[in-house]
Amino acid sequence: MPETHPSKDIIGSKSRLLKGRNIALCVTGSVAAVKCPEIARELMRQGAEVYTVMSSMAQKIIHPYLMEWATGNHVVTELTGKIEHVMLVGEGPDKADLVLVAPATANTISKIACGIDDTTVTSLVSTAFGSGTPIMIVPAMHESMYRHPVVTENIRKLQSLGVEFVGPRIEEGKAKMAETKEIVEAVIRKLTVKKDLAKRKVLVTAGPTLEHIDPVRVITNKSSGKMGVAVVEEALSRGAEVTLVYGPGTAVPPKEAKEISVVTSQEMYEAVVSELKSKKYDIAIAVAAVADWTPEEQYEYKVPTSTEPELTVKLKPTPKIIDAVKKISPDTFLVAFRAEYNLSDEELVQSAYERLKKAKADLIAANDTERKGTGFGYDANEVFIVDANKKVVHVPLAKKREVAKHLFDVIVDKIRQSKT
Ligand SMILES: Cc1cc2nc3c(=O)[nH]c(=O)nc-3n(C[C@H](O)[C@H](O)[C@H](O)COP(=O)(O)O)c2cc1C
Repeated sequence: MPETHPSKDIIGSKSRLLKGRNIALCVTGSVAAVKCPEIARELMRQGAEVYTVMSSMAQKIIHPYLMEWATGNHVVTELTGKIEHVMLVGEGPDKADLVLVAPATANTISKIACGIDDTTVTSLVSTAFGSGTPIMIVPAMHESMYRHPVVTENIRKLQSLGVEFVGPRIEEGKAKMAETKEIVEAVIRKLTVKKDLAKRKVLVTAGPTLEHIDPVRVITNKSSGKMGVAVVEEALSRGAEVTLVYGPGTAVPPKEAKEISVVTSQEMYEAVVSELKSKKYDIAIAVAAVADWTPEEQYEYKVPTSTEPELTVKLKPTPKIIDAVKKISPDTFLVAFRAEYNLSDEELVQSAYERLKKAKADLIAANDTERKGTGFGYDANEVFIVDANKKVVHVPLAKKREVAKHLFDVIVDKIRQSKT
């Protein structure tokens, strides 16, 4: 038998954000348990090892073999002479860094709140309380159970004891378990030790803009918003308070960010100006792929092809958002993004540097959308981060979330240097 379970070959395939972290995934008797293999494997893709603990009722909903396959680790289905609960969160060498109860039934939540431990899961959580292991609970139940005043009170009690709750989503009469992405993000936030942006206000623009030719036809670009959303996720995980001015991208921003939805470049410009005037932002990061041009005139009706078999649309330049930032708020640390096409590294850096100077930006992150596997719509990117002294930090092809991490490492470093 090989030493390493083949299921573990995905560990770290997306990022190393959770590398070296052990997570005790506690599964209780909700149908939402069917999502647990997905949750476990997403955590593993971010670098974590996952150890599953299942209540008796959970084992009637999904078989422990499934979780053993998903994680590559033995599943705790009962407490034995090995005192699994103590090994996992008390004194064991591979002690868990986090106890994640997902899904958590009304029953388990209330037992935990009352200090009862009569199942594998509740015993593990009791031990976690005593050993100071962080606990995260992801409820799933019918809405009527969730509205039970005692359940509500128990959730509040646990929150006051430092337990973090993720979700639920109230839909179709149910308090449904949070989406996997939201759970994984919450875990990353919890376990990412760097809180170097605590209490900092960060303004991010992301996504494309749409410029109307007529009420139904638009000019736009291929931006998905993924890079901007990764920047938002990273800022949140470091403790920042984030406002996102978001064009119509397809990437889903985390709920913890204040989102201002916009459509056109003019709306994005106005939203950014209004935010900068109303609040003191420490950092502004312009990731959005704002359309460079917009039709000079917009038709107020849908132009019929019968009368206009050919249509000439004259374009005028859109307002340059990054050029406005320092004029309104000179002390805000400004980071611009620049997408180029088919340039050498030197040309890319030079062009980015010139743009940085024009906007009086503090940093600019340049990428070449022509390069394989990078840019619009992709999950990965390769960027050159250029500063006002033309010093360059090259981030080779990496997942956008990792790129965002490198970017914030540079930002935090620069801000620190400017204060010493
Ligand atoms: C098919 C099925 C689905 C269930 N789904 C939920 C649920 O989503 N949330 C909940 O609180 N209880 C649910 N229950 C009830 C719990 O399983 C029951 O309260 C059980 O005692 C929970 O035990 P545990 O918390 O130790 O897993 C479900 C029961 C069954 C049979």
